[in-house]
Amino acid sequence: MKICCIGAGYVGGPTMAVIALKCPSVEVAVVDISVKRIAAWNSNRLPIYEPGLYDIVAQCRGRNLSFSTDVEKHVSEADIVFISVNTPTKTFGLGAGKAADLTYWESAARTIADVSTSDKIVVEKSTVPVRTGESLKKILTHNSKGINYQILSNPEFLAEGTAVQDLLRPDRVLIGGLETPEGKKAAQVLKDVYAHWVPEDRIITINLWSAELSKLVANAYLAQRISSINSISALCEATGADVSEVARAVGKDSRVGPMYLNASFGFGGSAFIKDILSLVYICKCNGLTDVAEYWKQVLKINDFQKSRFVKRVISSMFNTVVGKKIAVLGFAFKKDTGDTRDTPVIDVCKGLLDDKATLSIYDPQVSEEQLIYDLTMQKLDWDRSSSNQLLILSPTEMKQVHTARNAYEAAEGAHGVCILNDWDEFRELDYRKIYEAMCKPAFIFDGRNVVDPEKLRAIGFIVYSIGKPLDAWVKSIAVAV
Ligand code: UDX
Ligand code: ADP
Repeated sequence: MKICCIGAGYVGGPTMAVIALKCPSVEVAVVDISVKRIAAWNSNRLPIYEPGLYDIVAQCRGRNLSFSTDVEKHVSEADIVFISVNTPTKTFGLGAGKAADLTYWESAARTIADVSTSDKIVVEKSTVPVRTGESLKKILTHNSKGINYQILSNPEFLAEGTAVQDLLRPDRVLIGGLETPEGKKAAQVLKDVYAHWVPEDRIITINLWSAELSKLVANAYLAQRISSINSISALCEATGADVSEVARAVGKDSRVGPMYLNASFGFGGSAFIKDILSLVYICKCNGLTDVAEYWKQVLKINDFQKSRFVKRVISSMFNTVVGKKIAVLGFAFKKDTGDTRDTPVIDVCKGLLDDKATLSIYDPQVSEEQLIYDLTMQKLDWDRSSSNQLLILSPTEMKQVHTARNAYEAAEGAHGVCILNDWDEFRELDYRKIYEAMCKPAFIFDGRNVVDPEKLRAIGFIVYSIGKPLDAWVKSIAVAV
């Protein structure tokens, strides 16, 4: 059997590597239009940082796993074609800032239609709006030359940073297909691939539209949990409760469960924001305004939380950060990844730079080049129309941004330190050394509850931790919400 995956990104690369590892008899080709990306997959420095991934790629590459830019050849030879291209939020035209942009997806679908000469199972791996399978069928069959295409939805639930473990031991594998005999047969073929390593009771076959929608809903539910606990973190700060204790108490109820209850200054990443926007848009297109408004609140609370964090920083530092150096620890959207797509750190940086702070940013996996690219590229404000594209940072603001080689360098001479992602190394820093090298009073703003505030207070820091009892100083300052 031959499998081809169109799209060698954060989803396509790791997923195909694990399929190749677990199914030695299957030939897996991952294709992409990006020459640079494919070259990196074929090198010793993979294009994405993902713990454990390199070993698997090294083991399978050249055996039954290949990476190529020859999209047409591998698609035409494959029995199963996965579409795993990016489906970002539209940045212009109808549905800008809301709907999923299906340009890459459509181009991949058209390639399959153009080059196929034999029957194929085509699998939607990318997250797509519900009923995209119908459009896929239209594109594939409009000039099908008698070829039989079976369409399946097989959304991917891996999280970055734990992708390999998620793929090796998934909670579930979802396969959506049509209820026809051919549809059921195709679903069985894909099920047999996963059955090489996934227990059968974890492979769920459902209707195509349910599978497409389930992916959006799963992400929306996870994001909703975070916004829920984040909203409560604000109440904890106002009342003296501790959000970690509240989360623990609530999460012990087996009906709630403990996961995704870590309060933070806001969630980010390539999935949650984009997928909720897409869900909201689909609801609106179906006339479900109240349902759309309900889910939109998850994003509103996320924006509230990011802006609340920035206000805490500025107001605690005597309401001015003009010319003050602030160390920013963490730039990727979470630990164990170098991915900066939709990282909430950008919003915090922007907020601090608006008040004319000077930033020294350090992230173990984000290059200076990437960081500058992210801070200067255009961003679409999700709640506005397409005419409101924002340039994230002006050239003047960029002069206030520096990168550091490590946390100590970032904090040297700083007035404040903001901890903005949860890399393990941030837990283990020598905070006494950091304190000694900082201007006094020295502030720490922990946006991820990574450090023990009491230990840092004992060193001499003024500490703000999301949702935790406030320092007398921080508490005494009125913050405009
Ligand atoms: C998510 C889903 O988890 C995954 O199933 C889906 O396939 C893709 O989207 P990912 O975006 O890679 O995965 O990361 P995830 O670990 O879910 O974190 C998303 C964001 O939420 C990060 O910014 C993270 O720091 C934040 N988060 C997560 C919290 O703020 N609190 C939590 O308790 C959990
Ligand atoms: P994800 O996180 O969903 O995997 P990425 O952006 O990391 O998204 O990866 C998607 C990949 O799909 C990119 O490397 C991009 O170059 C590739 N791609 C997009 N459109 C096509 C296409 N028509 N043919 C081949 N590759 C494509």
